[in-house]
Amino acid sequence: MLYVPKILIVDDEARMRNRLKVLLGFEGYNIHTGRNGREAIECLNKDSYDIVLLDMIMPDMDGCHVMDYIKGKHLDTMLIIMTGHASVDSAVKCLKRGAYDYLRKPFDFEQLLARVKNTVDQIKLKKENEIVRGKLEVTEQRYQYLVNASPDIIYTLNPEGEITFINGAVESLLGCSAEQLVSKHYTDIILGDDLNKAKYRFNERRTGSRATSGVELRLKTSNNDYDPEKSLIIELKSMGIYDKPVDEPDKTFMGTYGVARDIGDRKRLEAQVVQSAKMASLGVMTCGITHEIRNPMAVCSSAAQLLLKKPDDRVLREECADKIYSNIHRASQIIENLLKFSRTSGEDFGSVNLNEALELTLSLITHQIKLHQIELNREFAKDLPYVMGNANLLQQVFLNLILNAYNAMPEGGKLTLSTLVNPDGEVEIRFADTGCGIPEENLEYIFDPFFTSMPVGQGTGLGLSVSYGIIERHGGSIEVESTVDVGSNFTVKLPLTRDWKNEPLNPKP
Ligand SMILES: Nc1ncnc2c1ncn2[C@@H]1O[C@H](COP(=O)(O)OP(=O)(O)OP(=O)(O)O)[C@@H](O)[C@H]1O
Ligand SMILES: [Mg+2]
Repeated sequence: MLYVPKILIVDDEARMRNRLKVLLGFEGYNIHTGRNGREAIECLNKDSYDIVLLDMIMPDMDGCHVMDYIKGKHLDTMLIIMTGHASVDSAVKCLKRGAYDYLRKPFDFEQLLARVKNTVDQIKLKKENEIVRGKLEVTEQRYQYLVNASPDIIYTLNPEGEITFINGAVESLLGCSAEQLVSKHYTDIILGDDLNKAKYRFNERRTGSRATSGVELRLKTSNNDYDPEKSLIIELKSMGIYDKPVDEPDKTFMGTYGVARDIGDRKRLEAQVVQSAKMASLGVMTCGITHEIRNPMAVCSSAAQLLLKKPDDRVLREECADKIYSNIHRASQIIENLLKFSRTSGEDFGSVNLNEALELTLSLITHQIKLHQIELNREFAKDLPYVMGNANLLQQVFLNLILNAYNAMPEGGKLTLSTLVNPDGEVEIRFADTGCGIPEENLEYIFDPFFTSMPVGQGTGLGLSVSYGIIERHGGSIEVESTVDVGSNFTVKLPLTRDWKNEPLNPKP
């Protein structure tokens, strides 16, 4: 709809009043008139006007009186004062009192029109600003709603790392109110073990592709401050905020913006998949493991029988006792390994001796391998640097790869396991078999969950996909080269952390 500004002309001089009415009416404005102060106030009581053109000197009422009335009740009305004795002083007085502009009588029409037009432009600008402000308020409200209703934790930090904003999601996820956390340091909500990992990430300064994305951290929940089991596992996305676009020089760091997503359920499901794949591979090994234990038991049994037959032979007694002792030790070690392996893996990382982890894995399956006429070669690098990892999970990967090789060589063959540090400074663990190989068209699918070429009921098809996930969490990769009827090479690459230490394999309780 076309906007027609409404103007009230107040002047006791009829000639002036009518002349202005005709001239401004001709310009398309909607004109009303008042003959004196009283009539002006009557009009203003009934209606509102965009502009009032007000004569200052009228017989019944001083123009200032009308002006005060307008400014008291019609804040949006723009006042243009018309006065015959416009000294600078009186003009300033009017402007101070709230008039928008003034005209000194006598004025010509062009002058009047310019002032009115300028005032109308101001009114239009004000109206546009109001519309924009209204729209902004709606958008702001919408964003506020989205931020507060978000199931993710959304926060901002100041450059010192103190929380300046955090949304209501913390109430259900951390068990405390947003108000309690505002102005606390971010380290107050990170689980102690993860403080190092959170540094420079939770309080990220970088932007764009270098900013933090997909980093897992644990947050304290209010009533279980230090218990990792009861902490909240989150996936973090965060970036630095600057006062200017990032590619501009001399920008100032204003703080960090971040979103933390609760991934507890996802982690629990992932752990279940890992565990079921582990149990499946244990199932495959049962017969081999039984044999591994039965063997030393048989040795013990015959040594004991010998002892019973010749209890007085001192040399034989010593030999038998030694055999019984070492074989019981071997059997219990295998059981120990098996238990360790089948336990649900925790999340903890420590320094891992990969050669040792491979040996532990092999101890569960050596017999089975030999039984199938598979020649096992170890080419382990001496002094292999330790890597940061979860020994239990890594053993699960090794077992999957060894079992796959074993399955690929039903008629026997050769399996070579080697460890080395490659020129890129990564640790490599290679599994090379002389088995059936993988057809090229299958290569792109073997890491997919449930992809298997095994007969129904024998393979779950989870081995490689679970292994892939585990190695990815270690910041490494699995590569494969394979030729049908020649064999397959699987290479696990793990990064060397700068602060690796050659410490003994830490058996997690
Ligand atoms: N060393 C290998 N030689 C030949 N084929 C292989 C080898 N490793 C993997 N494959 C192929 O990749 C498929 C997927 O392997 P994956 O370990 O994921 O599942 P699976 O061994 O079939 O079952 P499971 O869940 O019991 O491990 C195998 O079925 C096989 O076709
Ligand atoms: Mg497998």
